[in-house]
Amino acid sequence: MKELSVNHLLGIKYINKNDINLILETADQFKEVINRPIKKVPSLSDITIANIFFENSTRTKLSFELAQKRLSADVMSFSSAQSSVKKGETLIDTVNNILAMKVDMVVMRHSSPGAAHFLSQHVNASIVNAGDGAHEHPTQALLDSYTIREKLGEVAGKKIVIVGDILHSRVALSNIFALQMQGAEVKVCGPKTLIPKYINSLGVTYEPNLIKALEWCDVANMLRVQNERLDVSYFPNTREYTQQFGLTNEILNNLNKEIVVMHPGPINRGVEITSDVADGNHSVILDQVENGVAVRMAVIYLLASKIKNRL
Ligand code: CP
Repeated sequence: MKELSVNHLLGIKYINKNDINLILETADQFKEVINRPIKKVPSLSDITIANIFFENSTRTKLSFELAQKRLSADVMSFSSAQSSVKKGETLIDTVNNILAMKVDMVVMRHSSPGAAHFLSQHVNASIVNAGDGAHEHPTQALLDSYTIREKLGEVAGKKIVIVGDILHSRVALSNIFALQMQGAEVKVCGPKTLIPKYINSLGVTYEPNLIKALEWCDVANMLRVQNERLDVSYFPNTREYTQQFGLTNEILNNLNKEIVVMHPGPINRGVEITSDVADGNHSVILDQVENGVAVRMAVIYLLASKIKNRL
């Protein structure tokens, strides 16, 4: 059986193209499973997983939980707001106490870039990064690649523009790594103040004009402005942002082509994307959410297989 090259999923930059292909092919099989009347398989009935979320989440937390339950794993979920972290317990103490309950895998979201990597070096469990600050969100990039492949046949050769707050976006960075590894071309578009200075060093070009970016691309991935990470001095005001970078049906209708519109959520309707675009024919936003369950099943299953092989 093919296996991943890694024992943890810490970021796309730590895996390779074969790993991505294996995850997406495995997700194909799980997508068939979750579309059956009986949506569960017994594969991981001997595995226990803790989901520990130190930042808010709807899609990622729930779809990891559902993916684990569809695989018959034992699951416990934890939000820092209701935990003893509030009493000053450290991350390593928290996780080691959870692992003392015979937990095999930890899925973690944290506000600090590198938190998942740090944890992988200090505790004895397989670690999955569910988003670490502005660093990486690998399962979002994998489900985005899965969705592009599903809608356009393949990722190789496709032109993807990521629009918005690139500077604070872990989704952008993970997508850039994943898309390039699979042979796609990537541009970014947004206010210059929200584009990292190192963007060209990643082999990505900056297009400041939204219409030109959309005329070039096959897929537009629209990102939310991350006000919670924003220093206000970086940024034009919301009205100016929407005028320059907001995607409307009028803009889509004036293009000479059809494009796929993606968004990782949560959406700020009327800011980066209007409701008629978010809910319209070009949008694959809910397909992304649906595919997230199959892709996360694949990630959990493949990492758990490595745990079992080590026993
Ligand atoms: N896309 C994403 O990470 O959404 P949540 O923050 O709701 O998990």
